Amino acid sequence: MTLQAAQTQSADSSGETSRNPKALYGGKGTRRITVHDIAGAKERGEKWPMLTAYDAMTASVFDEAGIPVILVGDSMGNCHLGYDTTVPVTLDEVAILSAAVVRGTKRALVVGDLPFGSYQEGPVQALRSATRLVKEAGVGAIKLEGGERSLPQTEMLVQAGIPVMSHLGLTPQSVNTMGYRVQGRADEDAHRLLRDAKAAQDAGAFAVVLELVPAELAAEVTRSLHIPTIGIGAGPHTDAQVLVWTDMAGLTAGRVPRFTKQYANLRQTLGDAAKAFAEDVTGGAFPAEEHTFH
Ligand code: KIV
Repeated sequence: MTLQAAQTQSADSSGETSRNPKALYGGKGTRRITVHDIAGAKERGEKWPMLTAYDAMTASVFDEAGIPVILVGDSMGNCHLGYDTTVPVTLDEVAILSAAVVRGTKRALVVGDLPFGSYQEGPVQALRSATRLVKEAGVGAIKLEGGERSLPQTEMLVQAGIPVMSHLGLTPQSVNTMGYRVQGRADEDAHRLLRDAKAAQDAGAFAVVLELVPAELAAEVTRSLHIPTIGIGAGPHTDAQVLVWTDMAGLTAGRVPRFTKQYANLRQTLGDAAKAFAEDVTGGAFPAEEHTFH
């Protein structure tokens, strides 16, 4: 534990550890988290969790559990909308689901993801798309993929007062050119990723997602930046960790990536509940007297 992290979590007179009331996770604040709170966590050396969500009810569960940042990721394509990749996701879909997540939460900073085709044309298109998510859906920040290649977009949004989370390493919107491979293994690729991260920071991004990069490289990027890094498949040294909620909760069908940890088996639980309901209906056990009006 770093000295700053120790100050975040200190022992009281009874020997109990008490959390810093400002802590992003476990803190006492009830107002919505802002990007300034995120910056404070990096200064304190505090690690924090981020989850995706795509609907109000799931988001409310994560908000009540104290998850400080919720990403309405374009992973909604694979995990919610039934597409094979994130590429077909539209801005309308992100806007509707982001608004639902904002309505379902009180404390979390909600980050809306700019989908493929909604910002690549240039900064003006990016500003128009991001403005929709901020005004219509009420998100507190937006995420977009790419470092140097998305700099004009990042600069434009930051100048307009929209906090930007950058996404580097494996960028799923480029799956058709990049595939799903660990990024930054070759020296040249690692140098490019470090350059991208610094460029995103210099353009005013408040955080950088690092997806599927070697842990050593993620550690170097994390040391080099004053804004937080958020890892997914990037090892233990990033400032924060993000998981796709359906992977984390065991709802995703089939194999999940090796970097995911499954904390529940919702697919089994929901399937069992559906079967129990069906058997009660076909066997006549539901509805019983207590579910019946006279
Ligand atoms: O869309 C998403 O859920 C993401 C996370 C994997 C970071 O981009």
